Amino acid sequence: MASKKYDLVIKNGRVIDPALGFGKDAYVFIKDGYIKKIVPPSAAVKRELKNFDERQIVDAHDKLVVPGLIDMHVHLREPGYERAETVASGCRAAAAGGFTSLCCMPNTNPCIDNQETVKFVQDRAKSADAHVYVIGAITKNIAGEELSEIGDLFNIGVVAVTDDGHYVQNPEIMRRALEYTKMFDIPVLQHAEDVYLCAGGVMNESFQSTRLGMKGSPAVAEEIAVLRDIALCRFTGGRLHIQHVSTRGAVEAIRKAKQEGVNVTAEACPHHFIFTDDEIAKGFNTNLRVNPPLRTAEDRDAVIEGLIDGTIDCIASDHAPHSEEDKDCEFDLAPAGMIGLETTLGLVKTYLIDKGYLSWADAIRKMTSNPSKILKLERGTLEEGKIADITIIDPDKKWTVDANKFRSKSKNSPYIGWKLSGKVFKTILEGKIVFE
Ligand code: DOR
Repeated sequence: MASKKYDLVIKNGRVIDPALGFGKDAYVFIKDGYIKKIVPPSAAVKRELKNFDERQIVDAHDKLVVPGLIDMHVHLREPGYERAETVASGCRAAAAGGFTSLCCMPNTNPCIDNQETVKFVQDRAKSADAHVYVIGAITKNIAGEELSEIGDLFNIGVVAVTDDGHYVQNPEIMRRALEYTKMFDIPVLQHAEDVYLCAGGVMNESFQSTRLGMKGSPAVAEEIAVLRDIALCRFTGGRLHIQHVSTRGAVEAIRKAKQEGVNVTAEACPHHFIFTDDEIAKGFNTNLRVNPPLRTAEDRDAVIEGLIDGTIDCIASDHAPHSEEDKDCEFDLAPAGMIGLETTLGLVKTYLIDKGYLSWADAIRKMTSNPSKILKLERGTLEEGKIADITIIDPDKKWTVDANKFRSKSKNSPYIGWKLSGKVFKTILEGKIVFE
């Protein structure tokens, strides 16, 4: 006999919801895509389960039940670069990585600086395995010269703007972006690398770049960009979010600005809290070419410190698919970016939680309630009445990253063959299991 009152129940799991300050064993009941109730285990609730068909019950024994993870920095490549990824394939990768929501970056072709392209991506996402929030471009064609129609973009549903991949070099334009977005209360997400200082750089400017004979991009390119934008943020009263923080100078600047009450937030990516530029010398793996580049141990440690003390609010993958043909070349000719949707959770568990830097609750906060707060999303919590986006995690499951199992259309990951701990068990989007 099947329950008509509920569609699905998740039993025996440990429920962690940072938004609710909740961390207890509980049963989660779902109906019509929404969370109906969360109740502690009891004889009564076990009796209630007798009304359920087997197929309506998910047993989460020894598992963590958390709000569906949100990745606020993803490149879906559609329209324009469908050879590397599509909305559908990127969302399949998201589901396989435990992400129920993602924010897609506007550096597509055409770029997402107008309502038609936003609508196109939204339509593609309707039947996808993850919910897609579209991020619009700050400037037309991401050229850094003229603001895009941010009001139009907001009206059709963009939750933030960014020129990701490019720093808005002109401070006057950035000032206007921070001022104008105040009207809609959306943040400006900045790729903070001074264009002139990093011109031609393919890796961090350091001992390693000198040794390898590669043109370097110095850490100060990021630090200067962050400091300028903090000043503009303070001046305008707008909302600034620094993407993929990679340097000690940037972490320290953001920490100080937050202490002073400036409205700035930040994210970090796994590759910046795991690798240093020494890794490149080991074999010129083009999947290690990223912007901003992998830095020194001092920078990596500062990113970890920033994650620990809350200077860095969010963990995002910067999932940046590139086709095998594009990455199969000399290191300095390769396009920047690595995929990340399917490895981020395992990397966070193995390199932040297992090392004692973050608790599960802290890590989940940085992938659910914090991005939700920054972008004002209606998801990211298991509160009763909210959309039933849920990730069930097998917290100590050991697994090996296998390129053949990637759902992403691209395989440009430096983690292939790595042994990780912590894996998604099931991903539930709007009450439906989209990955198990
Ligand atoms: O490494 C990167 N790749 N960094 C970016 O900011 C852009 C991204 C891409 O679009 O490939």
